[in-house]
Amino acid sequence: MNPKKILVLYYTQSGQLGEVVTRFSKPFAAAGVSVETISIKPINDYAFPWTSERFFDTMPETVLGITTALQPVNLQEQKYDLVVFAYQPWYLSLSIPANSALHEPAVKEILKNTPVVTLIAARNMWLHAQEQAKQKLREAGAKLVGNIALVDRHHNLISVVTILYWMLTGKKDKYLGVFPKPGVSDEDIRNSENFGKIVCRYLQEGNWSGMQHELVTNGAVDVKEDLMFVEERAPRLFSIWANFIFKRKNRKGWLVVFKYYLLFALFIVAPIVLLLNFLLFRWFLIGNIKRRMAHYAGVE
Ligand SMILES: Cc1cc2nc3c(=O)[nH]c(=O)nc-3n(C[C@H](O)[C@H](O)[C@H](O)COP(=O)(O)O)c2cc1C
Repeated sequence: MNPKKILVLYYTQSGQLGEVVTRFSKPFAAAGVSVETISIKPINDYAFPWTSERFFDTMPETVLGITTALQPVNLQEQKYDLVVFAYQPWYLSLSIPANSALHEPAVKEILKNTPVVTLIAARNMWLHAQEQAKQKLREAGAKLVGNIALVDRHHNLISVVTILYWMLTGKKDKYLGVFPKPGVSDEDIRNSENFGKIVCRYLQEGNWSGMQHELVTNGAVDVKEDLMFVEERAPRLFSIWANFIFKRKNRKGWLVVFKYYLLFALFIVAPIVLLLNFLLFRWFLIGNIKRRMAHYAGVE
């Protein structure tokens, strides 16, 4: 019997998602599956670490879904038994390189009638980006069969501070010696091998039913109610900002305004709105909240 073939597509700046992909892929190679790994490379790549100006300057194009040109994606095969699409969200949307990859004709062609597993390494807000990924994969004729979302498990506001430190210095270490390490923990990166084992077993069986349930049971996805509340509202505001700033002549100035708006929204507005929602409204909506959480944890 021919060995199964998988394609792993990913983009990484700091190397974090690259490490996740390496760990996740190990069980496939060990089981004799042919693994082709392609790193997506924008022609004008996004330099890492970021400057504060460039970090916020990517917001309008990211949110508006504007793509960037990529170096050619040369694939060895014409058909794969599984595509692993590994990506990171930027501004609650697919990162520009990940979104651009989904627009590449060679990638779209290979996605047609092919099972796909999405593999995310984010700060903690990936729900909206994953809804975009679901839609784009559906449009390409792919079948999403699994999703694994690795996140920074620390408190939302702590992770905002530490990710900015990491992104703006390139150092994935303890800010001031007191904050926790940013991003996905080393342990969670190592453990992504276990998710690889689960997916590999279903690949070998040639039957995907029940896989996402097993992945979720093993901690591959953890939808947090308060973050879901924020993520269901913030994209609309981001979209207004993105459209507004995109058309402005004084883009630099408006991006500075956006930066302070974002920090104010994250540190002041969101906690107050979440508290009010918790005290006054959520109790009437529990059934609906549970249904939405189940939706985001699933692949439909
Ligand atoms: C411009 C930018 C915006 C980001 N926005 C989000 C976000 O909305 N949600 C989130 O969970 N993580 C966000 N992140 C973190 C990334 O998803 C990712 O975890 C981090 O950049 C490390 O990925 P890497 O493997 O490409 O280095 C953002 C990162 C960057 C650079």
